[in-house]
Amino acid sequence: MQQKPAATDTTWSGRFSEPVAELVKRYTASVEFDRRLAEFDIQGSLAHAAMLEACAIIGAQDLAAIRKGLAQILDEIRAGKFEWSLDLEDVHLNIEKRLTAIVGEAGKRLHTARSRNDQVATDIRLWLRAAIDDLLVLIKALQSALLDLAEQHADTVMPGFTHLQVAQPVTFGHHLMAYFEMLKRDADRMRDCRRRVNRLPLGAAALAGTSYPIDRERVARELGFDGVCENSLDAVSDRDFAIEFTACAALVMTHLSRLSEELILWMSPRVGFIDIADRFCTGSSIMPQKKNPDVPELVRGKTGRVTGHLMALLTLMKSQPLAYNKDNQEDKEPLFDTVDTLAATLKIYADMMGGITVNKEAMRQAAFQGYATATDLADYLVKKGLPFRDAHEVVARAVRHAEGKRCDLSELKLDELLEFSALISGDVFAVLTLEGSLNSRNHIGGTAPDQVRAAIRRGRKFIETY
Ligand code: ARG
Repeated sequence: MQQKPAATDTTWSGRFSEPVAELVKRYTASVEFDRRLAEFDIQGSLAHAAMLEACAIIGAQDLAAIRKGLAQILDEIRAGKFEWSLDLEDVHLNIEKRLTAIVGEAGKRLHTARSRNDQVATDIRLWLRAAIDDLLVLIKALQSALLDLAEQHADTVMPGFTHLQVAQPVTFGHHLMAYFEMLKRDADRMRDCRRRVNRLPLGAAALAGTSYPIDRERVARELGFDGVCENSLDAVSDRDFAIEFTACAALVMTHLSRLSEELILWMSPRVGFIDIADRFCTGSSIMPQKKNPDVPELVRGKTGRVTGHLMALLTLMKSQPLAYNKDNQEDKEPLFDTVDTLAATLKIYADMMGGITVNKEAMRQAAFQGYATATDLADYLVKKGLPFRDAHEVVARAVRHAEGKRCDLSELKLDELLEFSALISGDVFAVLTLEGSLNSRNHIGGTAPDQVRAAIRRGRKFIETY
């Protein structure tokens, strides 16, 4: 392929004797995806220009022209009329070039005391900060949907499982509130991560700072940052804030993946605990009877995708010497996709939780058939003076007996139970019922319906605080 003559209009053309190869241009350009940062790039440029003027580095007329030009560019972008050019590599150069085309000389002064290195780091931080704020609202909406469903089912008995074997009775409300707690920590982690995202890199310039008398604190204030990054080399090069955010996102997805796995299991006709509204399911093209839980399955699948992004970002960072390296251009797609995937997942999930119907009878039957109150019988014997290990053994034998008769412990006659321990008397049946078992776990964090209702009340209050 023939090379075109040396271009004279690229930003660094003076240093080069031939234009960049077409393939290389496409390989190195990021404008296809980083144009998503445009509004934040403009926001950063406006704050930078205002500071340059306040510090007498550019004139008042320059600032006015820059403001006017950037406002026009913002309109063009929002209206979808901005012409993005691959030749101009990335979002920063595209906007700067257009600014100069609109306002002339002043546009060329905007990049004073700045480099694309501190510029891009600033843009991503601004973008991610806004994304975190949006995600927090979505987490809260899902938490609220969980609280609503938990409230309807504060008394609904279901089997609690360990090793996926029936363990002890719990309420469905209690089970749902476990996920509420996970999301509470997830939101907390995001908020904490936001503090470290919210620092200003601008002023670091290419890597070492700048010789102009800039005022970084002013720019930080104007952009709503909590402060400035305190080392210029670190400011332009590290993306730990993006990695940390993606780790937070992967954890939210992991929690939702666990819940998805349960929804899928509960919806299986073999279990039949719940049904998910038709609008979240699909049929089969060949098997007319099928109704598949596609949404939870996809959430489970997309968890792998977000966890993959975390691995990509960690790997991207691990061998980079200080300071900026072009490797960092690869931070954007995983980060963008993480935010998009998580936002869509949270939205659909909140809606889906409102579309769940519960088969209380199936849940109850499953708890009843699994000897879920065996521990209660052991505890009963302990309270009558038997050491716990011995009580455990007594109950194990009683369960075996009941299993042989294909009945529940509560269905055994008092005479039969007495065969296993003389300590048993008529009051035993109160602890062998599912309700008796639930109500006895009446302390903070326990599954007693009163405690579940208290947890829901605390949860409602808590989510009002953010
Ligand atoms: N598009 C680049 C990125 O995303 C912007 C910074 C480029 N800096 C440079 N020195 N080539 O990282």
